[in-house]
Amino acid sequence: MKPAILVTGGTGYIGSHTVVELQKAGYPVVIIDNLSNSNREVLDGIERITGIRPEFVEADCTDLTAVKILFDTYPDIKGIINFAASKAVGESMQKPLLYYRNNLNTLMNLLDMMGKHDVKGIVFSSSCTVYGEPDVNPVTEESPIKKATSPYGNTKQISEEIITDVINAGAPFKSVLLRYFNPVGAHPSAEIGELPNGVPQNLVPFLTQAAMGIRKELSVFGNDYNTPDGSCIRDYIDVVDLAKAHVIAVERMLEDKSDEKVEIFNLGTGNGMSVLGLINAFERATGVKVPHKIAPRRAGDIEKVWANPERANNVLGWVASTPIEETLRNAWTWQCKLRERGVM
Ligand code: NAD
Ligand code: WQD
Repeated sequence: MKPAILVTGGTGYIGSHTVVELQKAGYPVVIIDNLSNSNREVLDGIERITGIRPEFVEADCTDLTAVKILFDTYPDIKGIINFAASKAVGESMQKPLLYYRNNLNTLMNLLDMMGKHDVKGIVFSSSCTVYGEPDVNPVTEESPIKKATSPYGNTKQISEEIITDVINAGAPFKSVLLRYFNPVGAHPSAEIGELPNGVPQNLVPFLTQAAMGIRKELSVFGNDYNTPDGSCIRDYIDVVDLAKAHVIAVERMLEDKSDEKVEIFNLGTGNGMSVLGLINAFERATGVKVPHKIAPRRAGDIEKVWANPERANNVLGWVASTPIEETLRNAWTWQCKLRERGVM
C-alpha cells in the first residue's frame, strides 16, 4: 500500500486533476479544501473518472487547529501537494492582506505540522510569474527572479523563500517547487475542469465562454507588442500533463531520489504561443468560431514568456506531450458539459 498524499486545494482546478493522477498511480488521497473557489461536486467528478472517492476534509488551511486534527486523523500522510491559495492577480491588488494571509499562513501551518508528523516532502505550486518580464526567452530555472508586480506574485516568491529557509534550517523534509506556466484545458472525460468564478480573467475560460455565446466577444489585449503578430506570447500547458508532473515530484521526495533538499522545475511546453495563435488553434481544433476584437493592452501584462522545460524533461523524465489542439478541444468539451448541466 502506497503512503497517503495530502492535497490541499484538491477540489480546485489543478488540484482535482492531480488527485485523479495520484489515484491512478495508486496513492490514497486526502483532500483539504475550504471550497472558497470550488465545490463538492468535484469529488463526484473525480470518483466517476477513477472509481475512487478521495477522503475529503472541508476546512481552512489557515486554521492551525483544523490542520492539526487532520494530521492526527490521517497518520498515513507522507507527502503534501499544496495547491490551496487565492490566485486572482487583480483581486490581490485590491485585497493584499487577504492574499498574504491566506497564501502564507496556509503554507506555514503545513510546514509546521509536517515536521511533527514525519511527512517526507511538500510539492509547492509556484508560477512563472516569479520571472516577471524576462530579458531572455525561454526562461530556465536560473533566470533572474524579478520584483513581483502583484501581491499574488509576491506570495509565490515569499513562499519559495519560506520553504527554502525552513529546510536550510534543518527541517526533516524535502520540497519540490514547481513553476507552472499557463495551465489550460480540462480532463478528456469532461468530468472535471476549470470553474471560473464570475467573469473569467484568464484567456481560455473567457475564450470558451465567448465561443459559447455567454460573452459577447473576447478582447485581445493588445496587437502592438514586439511579437510576430503583435499579441502577447505565453506557454500554455495542458492541465493533465501538469498534474502528472506532481505525481513524479511527490514520488521523488518519498523515494529520496535526489540529494537536493529543495528542487525547482519549470513546467511548460517550451513553445511560446500568441493570443491570436491560440484563437486560431481553437478554431482549427473545434470548428467553432471565437468572436473577438482587438482591445487596448491590459495593464501589467507581460509581453512574452515561455519555458525552457529541459530540467523537468531530463531530471523528472516528464514532458508536456499533449498537442495544444487536443487541449483546446478538451476545454471546449468541458464548456459544453457545463452548459449541458446548466452551470453556465
Ligand atoms: P483554484 O482556485 O482552482 O484551486 C485552489 C483551491 O484551493 C480551491 O479549491 C480553493 O477553494 C482552495 N483554497 C484556497 N484557499 C484555501 C484555504 N485557506 N484552505 C483550504 N482551501 C483553500 O486554483 P488553481 O488554478 O487550481 O491553482 C492551484 C495552485 O496553483 C494555486 O496555488 C495557484 O496559485 C497555483 N498556480 C495556478 C496557476 C493557474 O494559472 N491556474 C498558475 C500558476 C500557479
Ligand atoms: C494570457 C494572455 C492576456 C484574457 C495570469 C497570472 C499568472 C498566472 C497565470 C498564476 C495574456 C491575454 C487574456 C482576455 C486576452 N497565474 N488575454 N484577453 O496573464 O499569463 O497570467 O495567470 O500564477 O500569475 O498573471 O494569463 O490567461 O490572464 O492571459 O487577450 O480576455 O491572454 O493579455 O497575454 P497571464 P491570462
